[in-house]
Amino acid sequence: MKNDSNIGEGEGGASVPSVILCVCRSMAQPQVHDTPSKSQLEQVAQAVRDLLHQPEYDDGSAGPVLVRLAWHSAGTYCSATNTGGSNGAGMRYEKEGGDEANAGLQHARAFLEPIKKRFPFITYADLWTLAAVVAVKEMGGPSIKWRGGRTDFTDDNKVPPRGRLPDGSKGADHLRHIFYRMGFNDQEIVALSGAHNLGRCHSDRSGFEGKWVNNPTRFSNTYYKMLLVNDWKKKKLDNGKEQFVYVDEDLAEENEDGEASEEPEELMMLPTDIALIQDLSFRPWVELYAEHKDIFFDHFSKVFAKLLELGIRRDKNGNIVNEENQHDGYKSAPKKSDAATAAEKDQNKGQVGHEAKPLKDDNEKMRRRRQGAKL
Ligand code: HEM
Repeated sequence: MKNDSNIGEGEGGASVPSVILCVCRSMAQPQVHDTPSKSQLEQVAQAVRDLLHQPEYDDGSAGPVLVRLAWHSAGTYCSATNTGGSNGAGMRYEKEGGDEANAGLQHARAFLEPIKKRFPFITYADLWTLAAVVAVKEMGGPSIKWRGGRTDFTDDNKVPPRGRLPDGSKGADHLRHIFYRMGFNDQEIVALSGAHNLGRCHSDRSGFEGKWVNNPTRFSNTYYKMLLVNDWKKKKLDNGKEQFVYVDEDLAEENEDGEASEEPEELMMLPTDIALIQDLSFRPWVELYAEHKDIFFDHFSKVFAKLLELGIRRDKNGNIVNEENQHDGYKSAPKKSDAATAAEKDQNKGQVGHEAKPLKDDNEKMRRRRQGAKL
């Protein structure tokens, strides 16, 4: 079996026993398992591949929002206090999930719920990070080393405070403040930002609107090229947010009379994206990645793997030795309810619940509206 994402192949060669020891006390209690075996992880990875195609959602793929979920789950890390990071899947709790920076990520979590149901042995924290690695690869991006073993928090005590994720309306100083806190340097900030090749901004989530590149479900270095070649103009949206836009007139499809038949969609950049070409230390990296896709892929692969390991401490065998892992083992939180009403079945008080069903209805409505239905 091809194992492009190096699933289960930790640098230290972590052993991944195949036996699952389920000592669940009740359905509402987290279950303690051994970490999943390589073949179990491959089954999960395949299930992620199978769900990426989502014709009723956004640009037809769940991939971009899954990548964002993993990034936001890890990007809360603070190296000074050694808090936050990808262990625990804290976004299941309102304390973290309700951070306005995480608006919209309930779609990603809801996409993954059927997988959690099928494979209850994997923790949310491992599932969210693994799904991103699989999605990047499937969308044409590089293989990224992924190592498992993350546990799920059982309450929100260790959930990091809100406000640790970047704000797109700011500039280079803010980017450094946020990413240096996580332990990244300027080159890594630029490489990570290349994920904006994927997906789009939504006015009902971040308040920004539009996609960065014309094909937002294909991982490439187009984002950097767009940054450099286009003439980006500042635009104030109705909600007061300022972003940068560019209309690619060549994209307008011509009809038989040679006239443009469709309005070309505006491309966009956040102020933080534009900061990458305005800042003298960031810009050379943008130029390098625009010219050399292979170097970008290599750097992105390394820096995304580093991102997913933030907040995780491992022993020489690759086993996670964070306090909660040592104390509780590999604790997989139970799947959340799909029903819109079933509060008593939530895993824990304060947890973000009932995401799947309402969002499925939302997506279905959006699809019907696109097809002309007045809803
Ligand atoms: C550099 C600072 C960053 C800022 C300020 C930022 C901000 C944003 C904003 C405002 C959105 C739109 C959210 C929405 O309305 O749905 C977005 C989307 C996205 N971001 Fe970032 N981001 C940053 C870095 C990153 C990084 C490091 C990654 C991953 C490595 C990433 C991956 C994504 C993806 C894939 C999307 C598209 C999500 C979708 O289509 O639903 N971003 N980002």
